[in-house]
Amino acid sequence: MTSRILVVDLASSSRTWSLPPDGEARIRESAAEGWEVRVVKAPTVSDGDGNARPSAESLDAARDAEVYLGFGISRQLFLEAPSLRWVHSAAAGVGSALFPEMVEREVRFTNSAGVHAIPIAEHVIGGVLYLLRGFDVAVDLQRASRWDRAPFVGGEVPMRELGECRVLVVGAGGLGSAIAGRMSCFGARVTGVRRRPELGVPAGFDRVIGPDPEALDGSLPEADILVLSAPQTTATRGLIGRERLARLPGGAIVVNVARGALLDEAALADAIERGGLRGAVMDVFEREPLPVTSPLWGLRSVLLTPHVSAVSPNGYWRRELDLFIENWRRYVRGGPLRNLVDKHAGY
Ligand SMILES: NC(=O)c1ccc[n+]([C@@H]2O[C@H](COP(=O)([O-])OP(=O)(O)OC[C@H]3O[C@@H](n4cnc5c(N)ncnc54)[C@H](OP(=O)(O)O)[C@@H]3O)[C@@H](O)[C@H]2O)c1
Repeated sequence: MTSRILVVDLASSSRTWSLPPDGEARIRESAAEGWEVRVVKAPTVSDGDGNARPSAESLDAARDAEVYLGFGISRQLFLEAPSLRWVHSAAAGVGSALFPEMVEREVRFTNSAGVHAIPIAEHVIGGVLYLLRGFDVAVDLQRASRWDRAPFVGGEVPMRELGECRVLVVGAGGLGSAIAGRMSCFGARVTGVRRRPELGVPAGFDRVIGPDPEALDGSLPEADILVLSAPQTTATRGLIGRERLARLPGGAIVVNVARGALLDEAALADAIERGGLRGAVMDVFEREPLPVTSPLWGLRSVLLTPHVSAVSPNGYWRRELDLFIENWRRYVRGGPLRNLVDKHAGY
C-alpha cells in the first residue's frame, strides 16, 4: 500500500525555533496507520511569516507529499508539490504564503494564530509597565551612577497606574485577547477592534468596535495605550499614520507586536520627539533588521526588541504541537480543522 506523506520542515536556523527531538518523536508517535513522516534536516528560516527559499531536501521530500508542516510555505515548494492537500504554518502571519496559486487551489491552509499569545501578552505588559513606572529614566540614571529623585517627584516622569489607563487593542484575536485579559486584571478599561464585531466581545475586553475608519478615529482620543495586534492585510497596511497618531491623547503609549507595515515609524518617532507621546514598545518594524539610521534607536522612551516577543521555547513547542497533532487527527477523520486561514481575508 502506498503511504500518505507528511513533510515536517521545521529545522530552523534559530535554535529556539527549531523542532526539538522530543517534538519530532511526538509527531512520529501521532502518525495514524498508513502515514509516513519525512523530517527535513536541512536548515530553514522561521523569521517573520517564514521561509522564502526552500532547501533542496525539502523540495525533494515534498514532491509527492499530502501534508506540509513548515514556517509558512514558499511558492516554489508549493508549485513543485502538486499532491498537497493541507499546509500548516508554524508561524501566525501568513501574508507571504498567500500567493495566487495558494489562494486558488483547493488546499487547506492553517496557521498558528494564538499560539504566541502568552509570551507576547507578557512582553506587552512588561513594556507598558516599564514606561508607566519611568524605568527608562531610571535605567539612564543607574548607568550614570546618579541618585536623582527629581525627575520622578518633580513631574518630569509621568508616573501612572495601569488601572487608570484606557487601552485600545487593534486585533482582538489570540494576541489581542491575551493582552486585553492581562490589562483588565490591572484594572484598565479595554476596547478591542476586530474585523467582525458581530461575532461578539472576546474575553478580556469591555467592548469591541469594527474596523470602520470613523469608529477607529473616534476611539483614538480615548486611548492612553494603543496596542497593535492585528494581521498585516490589505486593510491594515498603513493603518496608523501621522494623522491617527495625532489623535492620541498627550502622554499616550504605542505598542506594536503585530507587523511593521501597520504603523508609520517616522511619524511615531516625530510624535515622541515632540513630546506628544510618552513612548513606544516596539517588537516589529517596517524594515527588519531595523536600519541603524532609524531615529527609534536613539529615543530613550522607545523600548525596542528585535522581533522576539514570541520567544518561549517550552511553551511554544507544547502549544504548537498540541495544535498540529489535534488538527492532523481531525484531517485524517475528515473533520473541520482549527485555525483555518481565510485566504481572501488574508489571515
Ligand atoms: N511579534 C511577533 O513575533 C508575532 C507573533 C505572532 C503573531 N504576530 C502577528 O500578529 C497577528 C495576530 O496574531 P493572532 O495570533 O492574534 O491572530 P488571530 O487570532 O487570527 O487574530 C487576528 C485579529 O485581528 C482582527 N482583524 C483582522 N483584520 C482586521 C482589521 N482590518 N481591523 C481590525 N482588526 C482586524 C481579527 O478580527 P476577527 O476576530 O473579527 O476575525 C482578529 O481579532 C499575526 O497575523 C501576526 O502578523 C506577531
